[in-house]
Amino acid sequence: MRHTFLGHQLKSHVMNAAGVHCTTLDELSILLKNTKGLIVTKTATLHPRQGNIKPRYAEIPGGSINSMGLPNLGIDAYINFITLNSMRAHRIILSIAGLSLNELIRVAHRANCSKALAIEVNLSCPNIDGKPQVAYDFQTTEYLLKQLGIIFDKPWGVKLPPYFDPIHFDQITELLNRSSVSFVTAINSPGNALWLDEDLKSVIVPKDGHGGIGGPMILPIALANVSHLRKRLRPEIEMIGCGGVETALDVKKHMKCGAQIVQVGTTLMKYGPHLLNELSASV
Ligand code: SIN
Repeated sequence: MRHTFLGHQLKSHVMNAAGVHCTTLDELSILLKNTKGLIVTKTATLHPRQGNIKPRYAEIPGGSINSMGLPNLGIDAYINFITLNSMRAHRIILSIAGLSLNELIRVAHRANCSKALAIEVNLSCPNIDGKPQVAYDFQTTEYLLKQLGIIFDKPWGVKLPPYFDPIHFDQITELLNRSSVSFVTAINSPGNALWLDEDLKSVIVPKDGHGGIGGPMILPIALANVSHLRKRLRPEIEMIGCGGVETALDVKKHMKCGAQIVQVGTTLMKYGPHLLNELSASV
């Protein structure tokens, strides 16, 4: 089956979720060489970041919990990676974020000069102490969408956190429909969840044990978000489904709800990149 995204023909419609197997240059090289579809980089900030203290990722019943804190090599390292792999740059999405609006604007200017196919702006990282998820603040989101629309002259989209109320789907899609986004990725990990081990201690140290959750337990939330957004977004805005994918059937469910491309996080972390080709082959 042939798949298209942003006008490009793809050999696979299954890809990694930002943050999984895409932080180091080695991970990215392996992903790019061994998968057939798109890949997305770890969300990049202006400067390299160590992220939160370890342990910061754990498997828990039903999936995973993480509080990574945006460890990444800094935007320039990912732009250089894309330049070095320019023959395959049409398969690479560059994920970006900023710890302040000013930082995000600066990162966006740099990202716009890269050879990446597109830019995914992460408005939904739940793991930075003291920093709210941008996409839960509609006023700031509206401002940012306008500013980013002025900066980007290449395709760009946003990665959203999950919403849980119809009014919020109405509000966010109204803003997105007025913006120049080409695509929307839904969803990032439901944030600030908490899991306790048998000894009643939290499994993730940073942020008092709170973190974003992933894996099969979030599939219903992800599907509902893809479906609600698809029904409200302008038809030209393409959708990437993300969240809870473990099997080829889960990929199909995302597509049935309106996703063209499907990202895999926790399950990729568990089994490695070969899983992406397997999932796409069996759809
Ligand atoms: C993290 O690095 O904390 C995860 C990033 C994200 O969920 O956006």
